[in-house]
Amino acid sequence: MSIHKTVKKITTHVMHEMKLKGEKIAMLTAYDYSMARILDEAGIDVILVGDSASNVMAGFDTTLPITLDNMIYHAASVVRGVDRALIVVDLPFGTYQGNSREALASSIRIMKETGAAAVKLEGGEQVIESVERILSAGIPVMGHLGLTPQAIHKFGTYVVRAREEEEARKLMEDAKLLEKAGCFALVLEKIPARLAEEVTASVKIPVIGIGAGPKTDGQVLVLHDMLGINQEFSPRFLRRYHNLYAEIRGAVQNYINDVRTFQFPNEKEQY
Ligand code: KIV
Repeated sequence: MSIHKTVKKITTHVMHEMKLKGEKIAMLTAYDYSMARILDEAGIDVILVGDSASNVMAGFDTTLPITLDNMIYHAASVVRGVDRALIVVDLPFGTYQGNSREALASSIRIMKETGAAAVKLEGGEQVIESVERILSAGIPVMGHLGLTPQAIHKFGTYVVRAREEEEARKLMEDAKLLEKAGCFALVLEKIPARLAEEVTASVKIPVIGIGAGPKTDGQVLVLHDMLGINQEFSPRFLRRYHNLYAEIRGAVQNYINDVRTFQFPNEKEQY
């Protein structure tokens, strides 16, 4: 986006101030220019170019197959549509775990080739070396704890995480570790509301919840789920703000009907 635009951009610093002032942070995912433009004009604070693109854009069952090149394509498209929102990009599976140099190289590609402002990765202690190395290059990192979809084959299910005391204790430890390492924010996915509240109160960085109750500093949803484009996913935490699946199907059926019955184009719709 042009540096001459005068809108006050959301930065990691602004997010931090919002937490201090008790202002809620609204975050949604987006994967393309047109949607990102609508979200930004509506006033969304943070856009996550999530690896959920693997599910809702590419039709895979999990987030594992999406590649770094795919994520860069989606993120660069989003960046072109946004003036104000902070844009965070997911590091896809296999580009940061177990090798902090690769984590840094992947993050540098995202920053250079997309123009986004930050990266997000899943996990706590096991990825801390990667987090530190990415941060050492001045790249802001958002953490992600609780349900971590890239580890689906380890857990075997998408049920609520950290219900048991031991897992809850570990999650709290990981949150503090990520904060200490320098993460600017955290996503907590599908954990008990009470635990999310405790984590939010225990760290100074903003905590964004998805299926983590009302007491986090902000909320995030997958755009295609909240707009009702994707009908296959109905967890309890999801609020559908529209039924775009039905709307789009209806519009397409009207178009097909108009073409077949010679009603489109009419006299005004031609040269
Ligand atoms: O990829 C994604 O959309 C996410 C959100 C669910 C937080 O990580």
